[in-house]
Amino acid sequence: AFPDFVRLVEVGARDGLQNEANPVSTAIKLELIDRLGDAGVSYIEAASFVSPKWVPQMGDAREVMTGIQRRSGVTYAALTPNLKGLESALECGVKEVAVFGAASESFTQKNINCSIAESLERFAPVIELAQKSGIPVRGYVSTVMGCPYEGEIAPAKVAEVSKTLFEMGCYEISLGDTVGVGTPLKAKRMLEAVSQHIPMSKLAAHFHDTYGQALANLYAVLEEGIAVIDSSVAGLGGCPYAKGAAGNVASEDVIYLLNGLGIKSGINLEKLAATGDWITRSINRPNRSKVGIAMMAG
Ligand code: HMG
Ligand code: MG
Repeated sequence: AFPDFVRLVEVGARDGLQNEANPVSTAIKLELIDRLGDAGVSYIEAASFVSPKWVPQMGDAREVMTGIQRRSGVTYAALTPNLKGLESALECGVKEVAVFGAASESFTQKNINCSIAESLERFAPVIELAQKSGIPVRGYVSTVMGCPYEGEIAPAKVAEVSKTLFEMGCYEISLGDTVGVGTPLKAKRMLEAVSQHIPMSKLAAHFHDTYGQALANLYAVLEEGIAVIDSSVAGLGGCPYAKGAAGNVASEDVIYLLNGLGIKSGINLEKLAATGDWITRSINRPNRSKVGIAMMAG
């Protein structure tokens, strides 16, 4: 059955901007984060404490996380792949972090320079220190419906990595179709495998829209009871280690779909569409939200 309420995890400031070829100023990132909060988004992934040599665009994570005008009721989260990242995040007063693994060996190697097993070993002390510091940890699993290097990924492998991260202490597992190759039936089968081990209420859908299937895939998993959706305003983004992968599903499109289904989100679609229009103009990018384009034209 469909959920009554969906929590939107807005990843535009992180996933949306991490792949931008031209530098985006800290000031623009901070204004984006502020506008998203004003539109009613309650969970904003704002930065990434990764190596600036690997992802230069996230090199101002400290400035971003300390510069946010915090709103009550809004969670501002950051990615922390290792202890070094978590320690920096803690210094900046970050209140929630995420580790990111994958169901594909090759993708894990390209993305974080280690095997799946090594990645889980690295995450253990990160999760432990975060928990000691009272910081909830979200866990990402990438390539859940296919890998840019290996092709098909078995749902059982997705379930295995997800279950391990969940048992290690991640409070929620976000299932990433990193390359955006999934289709609805595949999404359901993958979710079926994972939800045998983890309650549906602890799972999130993080779908990229490379092949234009993300909304259809979301509809399929909403029907199964998924109630947390990751998305990016104006459909910004792409993964630096998944060549050719497009941005996340656009937040405006997701909210329009939810509104049509009578599912609440607490988000003001007009303000969200205006934010998508503003950020794409600011960084000189096409708006990839069909809803955003239609609303701004009308
Ligand atoms: P490594 O080279 O194996 O790490 O990289 P290392 O520990 O050997 O360190 C190498 C250098 O990086 C050292 O500097 C460290 O200090 C530095 P040097 O001595 O050479 O000057 N370093 C750091 N600097 C700042 N912050 C840190 C940090 N850690 C090490 N936290 C590492 C391993 C994970 C760091 C690297 O591979 C990396 O940063 N990768 C970036 C991966 C990334 O950001 N990918 C995109 C996000 S994931 C994604 O988009 C998918 C998702 O959206 C879900 C989906 O769509 O599926 C989440
Ligand atoms: Mg992503």
